Amino acid sequence: MRPVRHLALFTSSTFALLAWSSPALAQSQMAPAVDLAKADAKAATVVRQMTADEKTVLTHGIMPLPLAGPIPNLPADAVPGAGYIPGIERLGIPALKETDASLGVSYVMGLRGDGATALPSGVSQASSWNPELMYRGGAMIGSEARAKGFNVLLAGGVNLMRDPRNGRTFEYLAEDPLLSGILVGAAIRGVQSNNIISTIKHFALNGQETGRKFVDAKITESAARESDLLAFQIGIEQGQPGSVMCAYNRVWGEQACASDWLLNKVLKQSWGYKGFVMSDWGAVPNLDAAIKGLDQQSGEQLDPGVFFGDKLKEKAAADPTWKARLDDMNRRILTAIYASGLDRHPVKPGGKIDAIANAQVAEEVAKQGIVLLKNNGALPLAKSAKSIAVIGGYADGGVLSGAGSSQVQGEGGAAVVRPVFGKGVWAGFIAEQYHRSSPLDAIQAQAKDAKVSYRDGRYIADAVEKARQSEVAIVFATQWTTEGLDVPDLSLPNGQDELIAAVAAANPNTIVVLETGGPVKMPWLNKVAGVIAAWYPGARGGPAIASVLFGETNPSGHLPLTFPQSESQLPRPKLDGSDTLEPDFAGNPPTPDAKLVADYDIEGSDVGYRWFARKGQKPLFPFGFGLSYTTFENTDLKLKGLTASFTVKNTGQRAGAEVAQLYLVNRNGEAKQRLAGFARVDLAPGAAKTVSVTIDPRILADWKDGGWTMPAGDYSFALGSDAQTLTAPVKVRLQTKKWKD
Ligand code: BGC
Repeated sequence: MRPVRHLALFTSSTFALLAWSSPALAQSQMAPAVDLAKADAKAATVVRQMTADEKTVLTHGIMPLPLAGPIPNLPADAVPGAGYIPGIERLGIPALKETDASLGVSYVMGLRGDGATALPSGVSQASSWNPELMYRGGAMIGSEARAKGFNVLLAGGVNLMRDPRNGRTFEYLAEDPLLSGILVGAAIRGVQSNNIISTIKHFALNGQETGRKFVDAKITESAARESDLLAFQIGIEQGQPGSVMCAYNRVWGEQACASDWLLNKVLKQSWGYKGFVMSDWGAVPNLDAAIKGLDQQSGEQLDPGVFFGDKLKEKAAADPTWKARLDDMNRRILTAIYASGLDRHPVKPGGKIDAIANAQVAEEVAKQGIVLLKNNGALPLAKSAKSIAVIGGYADGGVLSGAGSSQVQGEGGAAVVRPVFGKGVWAGFIAEQYHRSSPLDAIQAQAKDAKVSYRDGRYIADAVEKARQSEVAIVFATQWTTEGLDVPDLSLPNGQDELIAAVAAANPNTIVVLETGGPVKMPWLNKVAGVIAAWYPGARGGPAIASVLFGETNPSGHLPLTFPQSESQLPRPKLDGSDTLEPDFAGNPPTPDAKLVADYDIEGSDVGYRWFARKGQKPLFPFGFGLSYTTFENTDLKLKGLTASFTVKNTGQRAGAEVAQLYLVNRNGEAKQRLAGFARVDLAPGAAKTVSVTIDPRILADWKDGGWTMPAGDYSFALGSDAQTLTAPVKVRLQTKKWKD
């Protein structure tokens, strides 16, 4: 085993420390560094004290939910949630009580009888480009998990958005590895500041839900290292999560949870990760997964068998390689337990929750996550408006949320619930749900004297008539998405495009508020006065949207993923399997030998904006795009080695925040676009600030021959307010550099 560094990164990468200096958190905002060396040493001692029976206690557990009737012998201390792994009292090892997920404590179909504070969706969180806010969000949901008796939060979804039709786009963060890694790392540190474990997931290349249990990701190692894996690598370095959850899909023909390459070679050997790998629920194919690097079988009743209990014990008794592996599994799980202090800070249900303060965190995230996509001057709206027509999207009741295991429900239940009945194990368990945070009420609260009317939008002529009679029309358009199902295309469903076009034709002051899981097409874009992307804006989405519409909040969100003009611009105009498989929430193979390949070598590491740059395509809205009610200028880019500095100025009339982006645009004469750094800067009108960003050399390098190589030569960088609006490039000569992880 490699020596473990005291300063506590779960990997031993040389560049981990470098990456901190970029837009990561200031020291004062970070949770204290984990004392990994101490945790690992204690874990090693305790493993030596374990009996053979005890060694297969921490390695597997159930999903403590009555999925198929009551669970026999359900432990008395199990809390309804995603997972339960018994502890070992004799050794002072606590049980692991696990709950989903990155948006807050999930509601598990109401079985716990309590609600929780819903953060906005991952893509909304990421639109803030604000690690400090990610930390606060993580700290908030982690505190609720602890108060409800959980010590593991299955947060930290960071799969790169290779396809905007992915039903889980809303749970993930971005299409870029640097942005994703930095943001997820900050969120994980926030979660773990509560002395609980956070989990980064789903490792790896889990790029679509269609056929998710058997779709086989085909990608070269170099492309994976420079994209999806880099997001995990940076996230692990910066967040030091106690565990990694492996994914459902296959990679190079192997199930990700039984992939020697992913788990042993990349994660543990190359990155030196010291925590443990837990399986996704129902993702373990066999006992051999242990030898391939899986440390813990989660939700075992969903797998074809309980592999990591007696079967593992028998193997360990008979074979020294298995015995050593079993010891290592225990050591890793215990290292995470001791590093996060689960033993010293026991959890117990019924803890105090400051619901008001937590809702404020959710509201702040929603505000910073809203992206102003179009404004012909109609926004911000005047509070003195006399008549406003609010149309569609259940805006009278609440704001949409995404479904699946990450579904959070507030106290008092949802405002609107539309159950989904269909095929597959989840049908009947999930629903289209709206958090109780009415945009209509929040709009009325902003424009106190206005006559605010509401039409649900089902009858277009009636909505159009209301819009015609009003000064302003605000159409709320929704796209419900869920874990388990991808969307077939990027259109707004249920005739909403027609509704928007008709309303816009009747009222030139039509504003569209999008509540979507990810990008959608906008055939009506030229006809409307303004568009905001509010995503799934969480527990306080209503006031956050109204605050942006009326200018109390100056929008500062920037897109963490590209909005294409149409599916034909994507690397895969048709999502793999979408035309051959029936929709299935579980994603099981239709026949045992069914095959489905997702060919990620098409774009390789050129995910999202990189693909658009390579193809010279103009999207509907580029990665990084976001308007403000003020204007900014980014100038004076200077490079000294791997340090870039530049000046951001607020050239308008209002205070606001700019997200300045630094892109590599050319390397040795070859066009190559990579986000190399970013800075979110708050500025008063007329104010300017010079910021400096340290460039992580992995962004500039190629992965080849088992390591990173940065060729010597000329590297050109430009500043961008988005990936396609760039300043004149500045060249710097850099030396060659070669290194291992
Ligand atoms: C999801 C995971 C989740 C787990 C436990 C799975 O279906 O993919 O993200 O943590 O369920 O609920």
